[in-house]
Amino acid sequence: MAVHGVVFDAYGTLLDVHSAMQRHAERIGPNWADISAAWRSKQLEYTWIRSLTGAAHHRDFSVLTDAALDFVARKFGITDQALLADLRQAYRALSAYPEVPGVLRALRARGIPTAILSNGEPNMLRQGVQAAGLELLLDEVLSVESAGIFKPDPRVYALAVNRLGGDASKLVFVSSNAWDAFAAGANGFRVAWCNRTGQPDEYGLRASATEIGTLDELAASIT
Ligand code: LAC
Repeated sequence: MAVHGVVFDAYGTLLDVHSAMQRHAERIGPNWADISAAWRSKQLEYTWIRSLTGAAHHRDFSVLTDAALDFVARKFGITDQALLADLRQAYRALSAYPEVPGVLRALRARGIPTAILSNGEPNMLRQGVQAAGLELLLDEVLSVESAGIFKPDPRVYALAVNRLGGDASKLVFVSSNAWDAFAAGANGFRVAWCNRTGQPDEYGLRASATEIGTLDELAASIT
């Protein structure tokens, strides 16, 4: 079946969310990776709680990313304000995984449109895409802010279907976040789960999605 487009999650799939703390690892200390993991889980927890408590409590991803860093800093005793400012800034300029530009280029060379569908707010996404050098390799950069709620709300996944046209079954959704991959499948997309870190199966993804180890394997899975 012809693929009409490939929709990528941004944070964790194209952009390495741990590259911010990794860049400042020496100033953070040997447990920087644990702190980075805590930052990421708190950030995601905030998105889910804000979504479930209703529209009046929505705050954008930029605000929640900084709030999560603030929490983690207090928890782990990081008081260096200059370091925290640098980390906030680094999160707006994360590194892309090394294979990303080549993969996007190859898809577009085959005439397959590429898009991002992300929790990120539009400005943060624009900055991130630009800093990673991906702005000319993406046909659409879609933010959940158009729906006013975070993933995994179905209204978010509908944004990509509406923008790229056709129906979800002709679109491939690619995410490293198992919960996001599951939700995309629940909303009718074909799904590639990019399981970079060899996590155990969740949500029955091994049965319902194509599992790949890096995005380099994506091309072969799209026929
Ligand atoms: C995103 C989150 C899931 O980019 O990282 O949507």
